[in-house]
Amino acid sequence: MVGQASDKPVALVTGASAGIGDAIVRRLARGGYRIVAVARGQDRLAQLAHELGSVTAVEILATDVAADDAPQRAVGLAMKAFGRLDCLVNNAGSGRWAPPRETDDAMMNEVIDISLKAPFRFSREALGVMKPGSSIITIGSVYGLVGGLNGGIYCAVKAGLIGMTQALAVQYGAGGIRANLVAPGVIKTDMTRDYWDSEGFRRTNHEMTPFNREGTVADVANTVYFLVSEEGSYINGQTIALDGGWSTTKFLSLEALTCKRVPA
Ligand SMILES: NC(=O)c1ccc[n+]([C@@H]2O[C@H](COP(=O)([O-])OP(=O)(O)OC[C@H]3O[C@@H](n4cnc5c(N)ncnc54)[C@H](OP(=O)(O)O)[C@@H]3O)[C@@H](O)[C@H]2O)c1
Repeated sequence: MVGQASDKPVALVTGASAGIGDAIVRRLARGGYRIVAVARGQDRLAQLAHELGSVTAVEILATDVAADDAPQRAVGLAMKAFGRLDCLVNNAGSGRWAPPRETDDAMMNEVIDISLKAPFRFSREALGVMKPGSSIITIGSVYGLVGGLNGGIYCAVKAGLIGMTQALAVQYGAGGIRANLVAPGVIKTDMTRDYWDSEGFRRTNHEMTPFNREGTVADVANTVYFLVSEEGSYINGQTIALDGGWSTTKFLSLEALTCKRVPA
C-alpha cells in the first residue's frame, strides 16, 4: 500500500534517538515535517514518537544504518506511510576515534560502514524517490575540515562526506535536489560526554573559540532546518562549519595568549 500523499513534507533522520539527531527531529517536527526516525534502539525511538504524537506523525525504524537493507527499509517506510520524501538527514555516525597507528582494520571498517557508506547508500536510495525541491543534509564534523588530534579514521570519513555532498550537489542540483553538510564543533551529547567532563577540555575549547558560549544541539538543528527551508533554497554543495569560529580562526583568549608555555 502506498501512503496518502499530503502537503506536509516528510523528513527521514538517521541517528534520531539521541543527541543531535533527536534535536533535528524535534526542530523539523515543529517546522511541519512528518518524520521517519531511524536508530538501533527501539525504546528511545518509541519514546520520541510518543512525545511528538501531538505535534506530527512519526514512523520509527529500529535498525543499524550499516545493515544491507537499512536504506531500502527506511525509504520504503517513508513511501508506505507518507507517500513522499522531501528531506534526508544523514546524522548517525560512529563516535570511535584513535590515532592512525592505533586504528586497526576492524575499527576502520566499522567507522567507514556506519559513517561514510551508510550516508552514501541512504542518499542513493532517497534520490530514487525524491522530487525537485527536496534536499539531503549530512552531519559531518570540523574534524573533516582540519586534522584533529586522535581523529584517525573519523577525520578521513568526515572529510569524505564533504566530497560526497559536493558530488550529490553537482549531480542532482540541476534537477532541483540540493545537498549540504553541517560540520559541528564539539557539542554536548553522549558521544562527547567524556570530553565535557574534563575541566581541561572545557577550558581549552573555550580559549580557542572566538565566541563566548558553547555550541548546542539546538544550534545544529536550527541550521539543518534553515538549510532545508525555502529561506535556504539557493544553498547547494556547501559545508557549514558550526563552531563559533573555531575552525576558521587561530583564536586564543587573552588569558591563554599571555600565559607561559610549560616546558614539555
Ligand atoms: N557531539 C559532537 O560534538 C559532534 C561533533 C561533530 C559531529 N558530530 C556528529 O553528529 C552526529 C550525531 O552525533 P551525536 O553527538 O548526536 O551522537 P549521540 O548522542 O551518541 O547519538 C548518536 C545517535 O546515532 C544513533 N546511532 C549510532 N550508531 C548507529 C548505527 N550504527 N545505526 C543506527 N543508528 C546509530 C544512536 O542511536 P542507537 O545507539 O540507538 O543506534 C543515536 O540516536 C554524528 O555523525 C557525529 O559524528 C557530533
